[in-house]
Amino acid sequence: MTYKHVPVLLEEVLSVLNPQAGQTYVDCTLGGASYTRALARAVGKKGRIVSIDADEMAIKNAEGILQQDNFQNVSLVHNNFRNLATIAQEQSLSQVDGIVFDLGLSSAQLDDELRGFSFQGDRPLDMAFGVGESVSTINLVNSSPLSELTKIFRELGEEVQAYRLAKEIINIRKQKKIKSTKELVDIILKITPARYLKSRIHPATRVFQALRLATNDEFGSLKEALAATTDLLKIGGRLAVVSFHSGEDRIVKQWLKKESIDCLCPPQAPVCVCKHRARFQIIVKKPIMASTKELSANPRARSAKLRGAEKIS
Ligand SMILES: C[S@@+](CC[C@H](N)C(=O)[O-])C[C@H]1O[C@@H](n2cnc3c(N)ncnc32)[C@H](O)[C@@H]1O
Repeated sequence: MTYKHVPVLLEEVLSVLNPQAGQTYVDCTLGGASYTRALARAVGKKGRIVSIDADEMAIKNAEGILQQDNFQNVSLVHNNFRNLATIAQEQSLSQVDGIVFDLGLSSAQLDDELRGFSFQGDRPLDMAFGVGESVSTINLVNSSPLSELTKIFRELGEEVQAYRLAKEIINIRKQKKIKSTKELVDIILKITPARYLKSRIHPATRVFQALRLATNDEFGSLKEALAATTDLLKIGGRLAVVSFHSGEDRIVKQWLKKESIDCLCPPQAPVCVCKHRARFQIIVKKPIMASTKELSANPRARSAKLRGAEKIS
């Protein structure tokens, strides 16, 4: 049985990428294959889509979907998008017309009973996408020193109770290993002040997000992959990135800003010595967010931000 993912900002992503018959695209985050299918349809039989996912579940699922839909123009790659340059070589891609990232996790991963992406229910404390994660979630929680746990919760989760939570985790793990999502949620609920328990957002949301980001080194992978897009795109090729986390959006925004200006010398420098030249033109000036219509059909889209740029040199 296959699953599908309700795509976020699909129409907007297509309007940024503007795919045409015969073109080649890389979908760096295959997920439930909604973007891949839309791109495959747009480029037609003479075009090509290379779709990457670190999660074997996404690859297996997409094999089924693509067979059902009889798409022959899609190559599936089970790898981490941080290896984009190598993947392109292995797939004999010289330069492509567009690259898209739809960051984070799919609804199928959230529902996966064998992993602990969700704080609902009781599941193993495992938030790894698959290929390329540097640490296991269970080790992070049970072996990281106080300072590191606090940093993860504070910097990746923007969690106000970061220090208290890290301290409590360390107290508990002296008695027993923390192995499941429910054990972690119980600790979070225990240290959460009563006034936050009534909040619309579950107190475990930020902590789970922070652990997932740390387990998969998501910021590090994104930085490496963005750097690889420059040489992989043709002049006139388009880049589209959908992010769901302010830290990820900041990485994309700052990288695009740097790549779209001609000189990085300090303003007081009399002449340019850095030789930095703009490689991209930003085509989405303010990040595109989901419409009210999309939000009412898919509340998951509420934090999505789409940025886009065109390769110019
Ligand atoms: C939000 S889903 C993508 C949904 C997809 N656009 C669709 O329309 O169905 C994100 C996917 O990216 C994958 N992913 C996240 N980080 C990755 C990485 N560094 N390398 C490869 N895949 C990654 C996840 O495993 C997940 O399947």
